[in-house]
Amino acid sequence: MTQNVLVVDFGAQYAQLIARRVREAHVYSEIVQSTISADEVRAKAPAAIILSGGPKSVYEVPSPSLDPAIYELGIPVLGICYGAQLMAQQLGGDVANTGVGEYGRTTMTRHGPSVLMDEWPASVTCWMSHGDAIAAAPDGFVVTGSSPEGPVAVMEDVTRRLHAVQFHPEVAHTERGQDLLANFLHHVAEIPPTWTNTSIIEDQVAAIKSQVGAEKVLCALSGGVDSAVAAALVTKAVGNQLTCVFVDTGLMRKDEGEQIEETFTRQFGVELIHVKAQDRFFDALAGVIDPEAKRKIIGELFIREFETVARDLGRGGDGPRFLVQGTLYPDVIESGSGHAANIKSHHNVGGLPEDLSFELVEPLRNLFKDEVRHVGEELGLPAEIVWRQPFPGPGLGVRIVGEVTRERAEILRNADYVVVDEIKKAGLYRELWQSFAVLPAVRTVGVMGDGRTYAYPIIIRAVTSDDAMTADWARLPYDVIEKIANRLIREVDGVNRVALDVTSKPPGTIEWE
Ligand code: XMP
Repeated sequence: MTQNVLVVDFGAQYAQLIARRVREAHVYSEIVQSTISADEVRAKAPAAIILSGGPKSVYEVPSPSLDPAIYELGIPVLGICYGAQLMAQQLGGDVANTGVGEYGRTTMTRHGPSVLMDEWPASVTCWMSHGDAIAAAPDGFVVTGSSPEGPVAVMEDVTRRLHAVQFHPEVAHTERGQDLLANFLHHVAEIPPTWTNTSIIEDQVAAIKSQVGAEKVLCALSGGVDSAVAAALVTKAVGNQLTCVFVDTGLMRKDEGEQIEETFTRQFGVELIHVKAQDRFFDALAGVIDPEAKRKIIGELFIREFETVARDLGRGGDGPRFLVQGTLYPDVIESGSGHAANIKSHHNVGGLPEDLSFELVEPLRNLFKDEVRHVGEELGLPAEIVWRQPFPGPGLGVRIVGEVTRERAEILRNADYVVVDEIKKAGLYRELWQSFAVLPAVRTVGVMGDGRTYAYPIIIRAVTSDDAMTADWARLPYDVIEKIANRLIREVDGVNRVALDVTSKPPGTIEWE
């Protein structure tokens, strides 16, 4: 049975990062809100608990607290930053509002033996971000580390298996941070490192089999990573009961449809219905220039196309009862403030309505994006699919400013291919969040050979980001920009000029529409 670690979320994005680091140590983790009671914790029977950092001070009113009975459950607890201060305060120690905080890299000095910091040097660089500091550890705790402004940087009660660190072991700037988490998980809590891609796949295959039994399953493939990995998992579980549907809207990336077909039909041997709906999409989009109207048309038509397939399959009464959806963990966890994770409604375009009367199969519900990619690789999906950058539901439609026509979509698709191809050749594809071409609704004069041209510019859009909520424009090397520009003008008919978008988000959005 998979042993579970609960990461208690005290706000900001710290909990997600901790949960991911725990999983990198091959231990399953789940994020819970700080309002969780000791009874609820007991019911979940976790093998360990980690208290996250958070943006508040324990002296602020209100500030999130923790049911103190949780410390009495005999479950090992690691408090981090705010979680450490809260543990100190709740167990009778002293947290001082010193006014002198520590932010950024700080040197932490070790005192005596510690299971958390086994075989560490006498001092290490840690990442700190705190205004308050633990001034005195509660009774029963031994102080095993300190920093210039934090006399209690690490405190441990080995008998009760309660440990706390003022610094952030989950951030990359903390030397040996991952080692500290691994020591807590494997040595304090004695959890074996068994959460691996193989175990994820085995668990999900078993879960899918038991959920769907002998019934038929339907899956909409979008060309993106999530739906492809979800489909691959279902294929492994009940491949001969699965029908995949790929609706080609005419607004996909170059070779996307062929790649899906190659992978799922020839490699996996799954039944794939390839709906070539391009004409219907271009007809519906004729003359439409308002961005929201375009999104709406694309989203609604997509659903209609999908419903038609589902209905046809259902004729005769033995149609699929289950629908696969590539929902990920960040879409389902609730944040520390108690609000559902911020899912932008317009980003559901391309998704399917709930009233389709299917029961959902969501094999990626517990996974983070990086885990999904690794699972996909292990399932044998090609790297081009698994490592694909995010692509919006309405596809190229939100990158064609003005009217979406077959001709303009073709120009943009070819231009996008060139941008991505050169970014890949420069070895930058995986480190960029997104890199693509945009087609504006203007034409400009140029000269090529002996003739005057009047054609479209292409705008290069490349951004770095962690979560798409904010983004910075990527500082692409000049020689990469030069290669892209030369090829765009040489290889893509209808293009005679290239520009670079140097807008961050905010104030810009990543997409142009
Ligand atoms: P923006 O343009 O709002 O985009 O900065 C943020 C991220 O979301 C993607 N995006 C979409 N994804 N359906 C989607 O599935 C959509 O309608 C949509 N619009 C934007 C965008 O590519 C970026 O990664």
